Amino acid sequence: MLKIEQISKVFYPGTVNEKTAIEYIDLTVNDGDFITVVGSNGSGKSTLFNLISGTYPVTGGKITLNGKDVTNTPEYKRAFTIGRIFQDPTKGTAAKMSIEDNMVTALHKGMKGLKITLNASKRGYFKEELKQLSMGLEDRLKDNVGLLSGGQRQALTLLMTVLSRPQMLLLDEHTAALDPRNAQIVMDLTTQFIERYKLTSLMVTHNMQHAIDFGNRLIMMDEGRIILDLTAEEKQSLTVQKLVKMFKSIKNQEYASDEDLLTT
Ligand SMILES: Nc1ncnc2c1ncn2[C@@H]1O[C@H](COP(=O)(O)OP(=O)(O)O)[C@@H](O)[C@H]1O
Ligand SMILES: [Mg+2]
Repeated sequence: MLKIEQISKVFYPGTVNEKTAIEYIDLTVNDGDFITVVGSNGSGKSTLFNLISGTYPVTGGKITLNGKDVTNTPEYKRAFTIGRIFQDPTKGTAAKMSIEDNMVTALHKGMKGLKITLNASKRGYFKEELKQLSMGLEDRLKDNVGLLSGGQRQALTLLMTVLSRPQMLLLDEHTAALDPRNAQIVMDLTTQFIERYKLTSLMVTHNMQHAIDFGNRLIMMDEGRIILDLTAEEKQSLTVQKLVKMFKSIKNQEYASDEDLLTT
């Protein structure tokens, strides 16, 4: 369980550039939750992830992971339990390293210091794991990752992230840079892995329909706050139109179209 209490984040405090990105957020993520996160550009979604993963220190508040206070735990230590995937498919893998060497690196992450030897049995294991992607990558262990397409690379990143069995997965618009077909493939793999390994997940998406269709909870962020937190039951009868309407009534603002809400 992840518990966030009254966290805030102010960038460049005390300067002309001072910017409050997160305003006293409380959030409890239960084990097995798959929460979709929506909100306009600059509403603080990525910053929230940066605070959860320890990329940035909080300005105030407390973060507890499985009962342990991790508020000041460095990012690399949190990475043992928190896996994160970004929008850019080139970010999660090393282009100049082979698929198998990338996978060794991923395994090391979960092993906390143990050295892994790349032998026949490891290669067999990698092949089996890669088969789950249905992309033929199991026959390309020695190919450099730089040769792969964006979709293949993001699928490999996903596989590598779950290889170390993190307790929690943070997905930050991880299909947004892919063409529709590959976005669909990576999204399908994502739900498969989340279900198979029972990964507690938070997924930022600008695709409102995805936010409604996937997961058991939906949160909406706005100006550094969580302004909506909907349950699975509430999501069942939800439509994009209704969601936009809820946003408007909370904000008491009119938007030209839901495009404004979706812009990333
Ligand atoms: N490293 C940073 N330094 C200064 N300001 C930042 C930084 N990261 C984010 N911000 C600001 O915090 C606000 C929230 O940004 P972000 O979390 O990236 O929004 P989102 O992911 O919802 O689009 C924005 O105003 C953004 O400019
Ligand atoms: Mg963002």
